[in-house]
Amino acid sequence: MDEHEKNLRSSQWFGRTGKDGFIYRAWMKNQGIPDYEFNNKPIIGICNTWSELTPCNGHFRELAQSVKRGILEAGGFPVEFPVMSMGETLVKPTAMLFRNLASMDVEESIRANPLDGVVLLCGCDKTTPSLVMGACSVDLPTIVVSGGPMLTGRYKGKSIGTSDVWRYHDDVREGKLEDRELRSIEAAMCRSDGHCAVMGTASSMACMVEALGLSLPENAAIPAADSRRKVLAQLSGLRIVEMVKENLRLSDILTRKAFENAIKVNAAIGGSTNFVIHLLAIAGRIGVPLTLEDFNQLSANIPLITNLQPAGEYFMEDLFYAGGLPAVQKELRDILHKDCITANGRTIRENFENAQKYDPDIIATVNAPFNKATGLAILSGNVCENGAVIKPSAASAHLMKHTGKAVVFENIEDYKLRIDSTALEVDENSVLVLKHVGPKGYPGMPEVGNMGLPKKLLAKGVKDMVRISDGRMSGTGFGTVVLHASPEAAMGGNFSVIQNGDLITLDVPNRTLMVNLTQEELDRRKKERKAQPPISDRGYVALYCNHVQQAHLGADMDFLVGKSGDKVSRDSH
Ligand code: FES
Ligand code: MG
Repeated sequence: MDEHEKNLRSSQWFGRTGKDGFIYRAWMKNQGIPDYEFNNKPIIGICNTWSELTPCNGHFRELAQSVKRGILEAGGFPVEFPVMSMGETLVKPTAMLFRNLASMDVEESIRANPLDGVVLLCGCDKTTPSLVMGACSVDLPTIVVSGGPMLTGRYKGKSIGTSDVWRYHDDVREGKLEDRELRSIEAAMCRSDGHCAVMGTASSMACMVEALGLSLPENAAIPAADSRRKVLAQLSGLRIVEMVKENLRLSDILTRKAFENAIKVNAAIGGSTNFVIHLLAIAGRIGVPLTLEDFNQLSANIPLITNLQPAGEYFMEDLFYAGGLPAVQKELRDILHKDCITANGRTIRENFENAQKYDPDIIATVNAPFNKATGLAILSGNVCENGAVIKPSAASAHLMKHTGKAVVFENIEDYKLRIDSTALEVDENSVLVLKHVGPKGYPGMPEVGNMGLPKKLLAKGVKDMVRISDGRMSGTGFGTVVLHASPEAAMGGNFSVIQNGDLITLDVPNRTLMVNLTQEELDRRKKERKAQPPISDRGYVALYCNHVQQAHLGADMDFLVGKSGDKVSRDSH
């Protein structure tokens, strides 16, 4: 037995004598646990976001059984525990409002309990960053198992997925599709266990953990319904016990180079814009310096090499059959840091070197990519003093340099009220501006930034327009959509005083977003601006609004940045 094993963290509970040891063991024994189990076995927590209200994670109790098998096989002792779970589709006003709350649940649940290592079961969008953020603030040996994407939806002979929701929405507004038919499409699109089947936020997060080295290779793309997902879960259970013995912690894996790899991979796969916010928050927890500008520097010149919706045509299932993320990483071999250590104890290079690519229609090469446009670009200018984000790979080439008159909506209700009005002064050159959908302003920064176009322009065949907001967009969304404008309108920066008719210039090649107003004029308007009343004066929402940081800092709460480690606190009795 090596020094570390002798000093398992959990022995501060189960290795105790007298009254304390009695209390810590006796109540556990009501679950039918023999005494020898408490003899210095690594105790592995399975942090489960299973919930019937998070349908993307609805299969996690079964998945946890596979993890347990692996832990038992390796001589560990598994304990499954629930944490707050947020279903992207059901939670109002937005699951993002509760990402930080869930991360607090995860952090405190891990630290307060007799755990030596943790397996994080993540799936739907926010469940991955919240669990990784919370776990980083404790920094135990930790491995991530994603739930896997859904099988590709099929309807009337066509492959469909979440990105089609936005297309169907426009069809309904144009009268091309009836509600009755939508009901059949719903069932055809979500036809198996798993999270969204496109490269939306959930899949971007699954790719992020694999690129960071927090999961076993292939974690990102194996469909939830494929039996190999269970195999991966079992192997992850097996591996976490070894990670405890090796004392391989999150901070050993999450180096600056690992973050750089994740940014490069996200650019190459056309990953979600939400990736930016979540990765910044994770970096803040583990203590790796990372700024918005790093995303520009590191993504520049990385083209889109996967052909997956919303930036391309195919689905996550197809990526798995084409070789999965290791095959993508292999294509990026001259770009990635290859010596980063990963959860299986091997380097990124060792993980991808035997990967094979089976379909060049799904995974291309850096020299002959699907789109030369980089996955993500960070904009700066007097519209957004602290930056904004755009996804050029999912935007329209003809709008990459565009000047148009602002059509301003002060909040989401104002937008819904007026967008389809025949009186709205708008044409295809206008720039739609939506305010007060930021972290504090909504609150929680909902995914409304890819706002639907005015009905009268849809009828004319307009498919895309420049849209700007301080909110987010679903990772499944697309269009020339500028997001995360910081400071948000509720903070009273320049963005808050943009008015109808102001001329806005988006210049993606030069990474700028400007309004043709002098700073004097902007300052004059800001002085006249009336501050909004607080959204809530009690409970978590008040805490969140008082402490949430702006999007360019990852929208974590100021007091949650950093970590408190795994130190065991005082006894409970
Ligand atoms: Fe859960 Fe898309 S709604 S991943
Ligand atoms: Mg989403």
